[in-house]
Amino acid sequence: MKILVTGKNGQLGRSIQKFISNFNYHEFILVGREELDLSSSKSISKYFEIDSHYDVIINCAAYTAVDRAEDEIDLADEINHQVVKKLAEFTNKQNVKLIHISTDYVFDGKNQSLYLESDHPNPINVYGKSKLLGEKAIIETMPNNAMIIRTSWVYSEFGNNFVKTMLKLGSENNEINVVSDQLGSPTYASDLAEAILHIISNDNFSKKSFPTEIFHFSNIGETSWSDFATEIFKISNLNCKVHPIKSGQYSGQAKRPLNTTLSKDKITKQFKIRIPTWQESLKEFLDRNRLVVDLW
Ligand SMILES: NC(=O)c1ccc[n+]([C@@H]2O[C@H](COP(=O)([O-])OP(=O)(O)OC[C@H]3O[C@@H](n4cnc5c(N)ncnc54)[C@H](OP(=O)(O)O)[C@@H]3O)[C@@H](O)[C@H]2O)c1
Repeated sequence: MKILVTGKNGQLGRSIQKFISNFNYHEFILVGREELDLSSSKSISKYFEIDSHYDVIINCAAYTAVDRAEDEIDLADEINHQVVKKLAEFTNKQNVKLIHISTDYVFDGKNQSLYLESDHPNPINVYGKSKLLGEKAIIETMPNNAMIIRTSWVYSEFGNNFVKTMLKLGSENNEINVVSDQLGSPTYASDLAEAILHIISNDNFSKKSFPTEIFHFSNIGETSWSDFATEIFKISNLNCKVHPIKSGQYSGQAKRPLNTTLSKDKITKQFKIRIPTWQESLKEFLDRNRLVVDLW
């Protein structure tokens, strides 16, 4: 299959790049902002006028600045909604399969239990609203052959993320304050990347038409940001005490949902994949990157 991956410089895009040599029976074309600027619908039409012969598009590009989105409403809407609609129109017309990544922030966080794919979304910030509109545009435009994968709390060796921020803060401070009343599941981007590559290589995906559906993917288990930070320090032998604080005491611009732990039952059963627990993946990530942490 010929597979286009957008957002090649982002956490997920770069994590997919790590594994493509294991899937060398596919041809991968990875594009970043330089090759395919997703801030305008016009640039998409122009790009696909030149090369439209893809079997699958994996859309890892997105506007992901949750706090900044509160001020950049139009830009977030353009990239996470309007351009996604344009992409879905193209993939639908050309019979190309689409994997699109969405977020746990489509939920308001009021659930007391794990969020199922069928639960009612009700985003409470601009980023979540723009991502939900992107999901809806795909569902309306592409009745078949799209998979929307919602994920949460993504970290990797690439770019900025919570784990890297904690490693830096933990090595510079003896104590820090971290929010303790927001619950969710961390996602090691490599686990999601491997799952996506496994799914697209499955005959049920590649050889058949399937109805467009939403799936959830994050590491197994639930934690709070403060317990996540404590585990990072424990595994990394950093002597930094975590003081739990309430969301209201943290100065982020966007409101954040309190509980967005996603149920992963659907994706694990349908595609027969085993997802590691968040503690297992965090340990693997930190052990593997121990020597390069100083370079980040
Ligand atoms: N990070 C999380 O915690 C999290 C949580 C839930 C869901 N998700 C979703 O997971 C997916 C992958 O996230 P990620 O963490 O890999 O994001 P990321 O590291 O922020 O990467 C996003 C990529 O999108 C690219 N991009 C943004 N605007 C663009 C534009 N106008 N044209 C072309 N490319 C553009 C960025 O390019 P530049 O590098 O040039 O800026 C960047 O490489 C996204 O759909 C996100 O919404 C992420």
